[in-house]
Amino acid sequence: MAANWKMYKTRAQARAFVEGFLPRLTARDVDVVICPPFLAIETVVGLVGGHPVAVGAQDVYWEEEGAFTGEVSPAMLVEAGCHYVIVGHSERRQLFGETDAEVARKLRAALGHGLVPILCVGETLEEREGGRTEDVVGRQLELALADLPAPAGQVVVAYEPVWAIGTGRNAEPADAAGVADFIRGVLARYLGGERASRIRVLYGGSVKPANIGGFAARPEIDGALVGGASLDPASFAAIVAAFSEPGGA
Ligand code: PGA
Repeated sequence: MAANWKMYKTRAQARAFVEGFLPRLTARDVDVVICPPFLAIETVVGLVGGHPVAVGAQDVYWEEEGAFTGEVSPAMLVEAGCHYVIVGHSERRQLFGETDAEVARKLRAALGHGLVPILCVGETLEEREGGRTEDVVGRQLELALADLPAPAGQVVVAYEPVWAIGTGRNAEPADAAGVADFIRGVLARYLGGERASRIRVLYGGSVKPANIGGFAARPEIDGALVGGASLDPASFAAIVAAFSEPGGA
């Protein structure tokens, strides 16, 4: 279960969140990741030590170092305590013009430094209405994953239909499960069935405590990438708890 805070929370606000969240985190059988803005990463890392919570970044650049004003390298993220990094979020693709080729480079750079990329894929409303969801998602996966070296490390895939992100309009769990199943089939094609079966496929897009149960009930969906509803400790804790198995607390 991953929290994507986007451009929300100063360090003081991040601290207040973690202090409110940890006492509410009872599940021990769910992997939890918090992705704060770059500047709050070290604050969160310093507070979650000893708890089953990992920290991720929201983006990364693919070069090791150099004259790339404003960018952050994989090694910098690792040193700051990150284990995960979101790659190819639709806001990066749409607002900042990130291409599939750039997403692929970021994915490889993250893997090369032992970071687990959370690769985001998903169709726009127009693409969905045109019946092109599988074409679009399949192409995004193919361009990111083709020719990945065999022991490349762990990858997480987040299916995030663009029309569901931040709109309050979530996908139907059955539809999301269908796309998650399709994604696993594509992963099997590129990475082999055994490896594909171990990859977690998350759903993201207007997840909240009131609708998470429908996604958690779907075996095709292994977790969620949560934006708006991850900003409040009680709300994110309730979402995490929905993916805990009986006896996992
Ligand atoms: P949302 O964002 O939960 O606010 O829709 C999800 C995401 O962008 O990862």
